[in-house]
Amino acid sequence: MSEEVDLGRRRLLTTATALTGAVGVVFTATPFLASWKPSARAKAMGAPIEIDLSKLEPGSMLKVEWRGKPVWVVRRTPEMLKQLEQATPFLLDPKSEGSVQPEYAKNEARARNPEYFVVLGVCTHLGCSPLPKFDAADVTVSADWPGGFYCPCHGSKFDLSGRVFKGVPAPANLTVPPYSFLTDTRVMVGSDTSQSA
Ligand code: FES
Repeated sequence: MSEEVDLGRRRLLTTATALTGAVGVVFTATPFLASWKPSARAKAMGAPIEIDLSKLEPGSMLKVEWRGKPVWVVRRTPEMLKQLEQATPFLLDPKSEGSVQPEYAKNEARARNPEYFVVLGVCTHLGCSPLPKFDAADVTVSADWPGGFYCPCHGSKFDLSGRVFKGVPAPANLTVPPYSFLTDTRVMVGSDTSQSA
């Protein structure tokens, strides 16, 4: 009897492990070169996915897919975090009061660990995927651009924490999904039950 129970438990653990995808596709600031696809089963179940951040260089972005949506992880440099302060006066919802994120991401960095920004890459206007425009004063956006994300569909702009600028069509900041750090360089998206990094 106890052996049957143990076998059943082992099967359950094996299934749970199989449903957790492991990914590690690293991008530079140039996005959309490729994306990780979870298994069809994991996709159907909306299972949490694990992302390996060990090869993500400072200033770079990694893109994966979770529940059919792009998830970005940006490894922000100290300079990028300073850019957040410059953007704050121009933001519609700087404290993320009208935006969607877990409680632990309701801060300026919108993150558990300010170095790593985890966010859904979906514009809160009509759902296009914005472009990363990390460099301040990027003339393809504007001369006074503080760095962030730009949605070319209708011109919405977001800072490096995904906070929306005033005067654009998007009504809210980019959405931060639930996530947790399994180790310093391994994050699980879709579950926020473990500790912050
Ligand atoms: S969908 Fe992004 S600005 Fe319209």
